[in-house]
Formats: sequence, C-alpha cells, structure tokens
Amino acid sequence: MKNIIITGGAGFIGSHVVRRFVNRYTDYHIINLDNLTYAGNLENLRDIEGCSNYEFVKCDITDTKAVESLFSSKEIHSVIHLAAESHVDRSITNPIDFVMTNVVGTVVLLNAFKSFGNVTQGRFYHVSTDEVYGTLGDEGKFTESTPYDPNSPYSASKASSDHFVRAYHETFKMPIVISNCSNNYGSHQFPEKLIPLMIHNIKNNKPLPVYGKGENIRDWLWVNDHASAIDVIFHKGKNGNTYNIGGNNEWKNIDLVNKLCEIMDRKLGRNNGESAKLITYVTDRAGHDFRYAIDASKLELELGWSPSVAFDQGFEKTIDWYLENNEWLDNVTSGNYQAYYQNMYTNR
Ligand code: NAD
Ligand code: DAU
Repeated sequence: MKNIIITGGAGFIGSHVVRRFVNRYTDYHIINLDNLTYAGNLENLRDIEGCSNYEFVKCDITDTKAVESLFSSKEIHSVIHLAAESHVDRSITNPIDFVMTNVVGTVVLLNAFKSFGNVTQGRFYHVSTDEVYGTLGDEGKFTESTPYDPNSPYSASKASSDHFVRAYHETFKMPIVISNCSNNYGSHQFPEKLIPLMIHNIKNNKPLPVYGKGENIRDWLWVNDHASAIDVIFHKGKNGNTYNIGGNNEWKNIDLVNKLCEIMDRKLGRNNGESAKLITYVTDRAGHDFRYAIDASKLELELGWSPSVAFDQGFEKTIDWYLENNEWLDNVTSGNYQAYYQNMYTNR
C-alpha cells in the first residue's frame, strides 16, 4: 500500500482529485491533508469518506511541527500538493495569507518530503496555475517555456512556489513535477469564483457583477478533466518537467455570463433575457490580466491526455449540479460569505 498525501483535498479541485484516486487506486492509501479554511469543506467528500483507503488529517501546511510529525509517522510515497489560497481578489486584499500558505507552506512540505518521503521511488507533484505566465494580448498561447511574469499577489505566490519546487529538484535532486492549468469549472467550487457566484446570484435575482467591460478572456476546463490530467502526469510525467493543462476553450467573460443567463432562464422557467437584465458592470479588478490561453500540446502529445467533455456538455452538468445541490450552496453562502460579499461588492 503506497501512502499518498493529497494536500487541499477538501477544496474544489482537490476533492475531485481525492475522489478519483480513492476510487481508482485501491492499492494507494490516500491521506487528505487540509486545514479546512473557508474554502475547504468535508461535505465535498461525503461519498468516499467511509472508504478504507481514505483518511482525512486536519493540518495546516505552514505548521512545520505538525507536518513533520505526520511525514515521520508514516512512510510517505508521494505528495500531490494542491492546498493554497486560490482567489485573486482575496490576494489583493490580503497578500500575506498567500505568502504564508502558498510559499511558506509549500517549502514546509518540500522539507518534510526531503527528510521523510520516498525520494527514490515517489515524487512531489505541485499543482499550479497558468497565471504565473502573466497576461496575453489578442494572440498567442502560454507554453511551458513562456517566461514567468506574474501580476497579482496570488500569481506571484504561485510563481514563487513553482520556483521553490524546481529549485529542490536542481539542488537536492528531488523527484518533482509541476503542472500549470487554466481556469476550472465544475461542481463544488466556492462561490467567490465567477461561475458559481453568478449561478448563485441568478438564482436569487441579485445583480451579476461583471468586472470592467467584461472583455477579459479565460480558457475554461472541466474540473474532472483537470483531475484526469493530474492522474496522467502523476503516473507518467517526467521528473523535473512542467506540463501545461488547458481546454482550448476561450471565453470572453461577458459572453460566458450571457450564455449562463440563457441556460438559467431555460432551467428556471424564466423568459428568455430575464436573467441577463441582472448584469451590472462594476469597477475592474486591480491589475486584471486580460487574457489567458493554454497550449497543452506537450501533455497531449507526450502523455496522451485530452479533455473528455465538450464545454457545452460540462457547463450544463455544472449548472445542474448547483441547481440540484441547494443545501450545499446555501451552507457555503451563509455566515462569513455574506461579510465577504458585502466587502467585495457593495458600492463597487
Ligand atoms: P480552493 O480554494 O477551492 O481549495 C484550497 C484548499 O486548500 C481548501 O480545501 C483549503 O482548506 C486548503 N488550504 C488552504 N490553506 C491551507 C493550509 N494553510 N493548510 C492546509 N490546507 C489549506 O482551491 P482550488 O480552486 O481547488 O485550487 C486548488 C489548487 O489548484 C491551488 O493550488 C490552485 O492554485 C490551483 N489551481 C486552481 C485553478 C482554478 O481554476 N481553481 C486553476 C489552476 C490551478
Ligand atoms: O487561470 C487559473 C486561475 O483561475 C486559478 O489559478 C485561480 O485559482 C482561479 O481562481 C482562477 O482565477 P481567475 O481570477 O481567472 O478566476 P475568477 O473566477 O476569480 O475570475 C474569472 C474572470 O471573471 C476574471 O476575468 C475576473 C472575472 N470576474 C470574477 C468575479 C469573481 C468578474 O467579472 N466578476 C466577478 O464577480
């Protein structure tokens, strides 16, 4: 039995990765290491919590003692590291939290893996973002050799953690792999991010806050396809390599919000055009990157990965999930979320 630590497994992408690994690899013992911040939610994993090859450990990755105690108490084969502060807007309000978790927390994990992990047969997999490459104009795509040029405190912290991971490979010969993925959509995403926030507001007839003119472009990938890419890279990726992951699926924000409104009108039995009346243009995000687009050909050609669903199909499934899981959405939008929302959007 190989002990695999997946950090951030109670979050949006992490829960999909944990579920996939627990269900597919019964010879792995999956340890979900997560501190359960506002973004971590064990409800995301109710269906697999009783599985014998799954364990949850509540732990802050910046707590060196706690992390080392876990790593020294079990033979850790590999780490798949997703735990992070992940929201760009929060990084603008509170950059220090991003330095602590994303930079310091990653180095704490690297040190623990170096001291106690299986550095001959296992590996340290760092899950990262395309935002480290900065912003694109109308043309071109990010490749693995695009120079790092992060613009937000979030992307600066992720770029820094990528550099540390690569430095541990060069300096200590640690077996590592890094992936940089585009925007994910799917079930269980915390409604601070564009798509679930808009779904929640449409349901509740609240304004739909589109930043700036809504012309920024993002490249959207279904979260389950990100999880399948992580699976492929974890098992087949070459040590010391980076792989870009993306869905070849660019959308201007305003076009995506309009499409969402049309689908929601149909699903909620509203007149066509009713939800779109809620669209409200608000003050832009500071330093808002204009466009992200991923060239995932290395991953496709070398490791044989490709996305499994077309966007229309994945988007419908996603919307259906939020409409069918009212309780989940109500729980995560009560309490602190209300204060967050007011601070971020009132009089914006
Ligand atoms: P998320 O915010 O939904 O989840 C983050 C998880 O990390 C939560 O479960 C949280 O409790 C946990 N966590 C935070 N701080 C912690 C700490 N100090 N100790 C232990 N656990 C902690 O994030 P997500 O959107 O699922 O993103 C997961 C990873 O994927 C991140 O590293 C992010 O940078 C990367 N990524 C995200 C996207 C995207 O579109 N969401 C795209 C590319 C890459
Ligand atoms: O590209 C990968 C990144 O995608 C990940 O690394 C991040 O963790 C993830 O949060 C995401 O970052 P973005 O900033 O692109 O995602 P967000 O959902 O916050 O915003 C998507 C776009 O929508 C962006 O151009 C800003 C805009 N937006 C967002 C919100 C929350 C709005 O117009 N209104 C909003 O209320």
